[in-house]
Amino acid sequence: MRATRRRSTILAAAIGALVSGAAAFAGDPEAGKAVFETRCHGCHAAPPYIGRIGEASLPMFLANPRRFNPKTAMTFPGLRSKKDIDDVIAFLTHRQ
Ligand code: HEC
Repeated sequence: MRATRRRSTILAAAIGALVSGAAAFAGDPEAGKAVFETRCHGCHAAPPYIGRIGEASLPMFLANPRRFNPKTAMTFPGLRSKKDIDDVIAFLTHRQ
């Protein structure tokens, strides 16, 4: 009885660590929604289509849109926090 319970507790903890680890790496769509609403919503009424930039380039684009593409019409200085970038990308990719 006790052993079984202990084992499932360990398992739950391991799964919890795995899930939160993955979430930390992939970004948090809920936090990303907040970032989007405060930093992006003024210009993007709806989350933009990311197909043209490509998901793999988003971190670079969002860190500094102008360095990524000097011709971009997106006059946004860039997100400074790696976490904000991860989160907003999670939010954008989550929706598409
Ligand atoms: C100052 C206004 C403004 C802000 C703030 C802004 N954007 Fe943009 N964004 C634009 C404009 C304008 C374009 C079209 C750019 C172009 O065609 O080069 C664009 C394009 C994009 C694209 C698509 C790029 C492409 O070329 O396909 C993505 C993705 C994007 N924005 C994400 C974001 C995110 C995420 C944020 C918040 C962190 C944000 N933008 C904040 C104005 C803005």
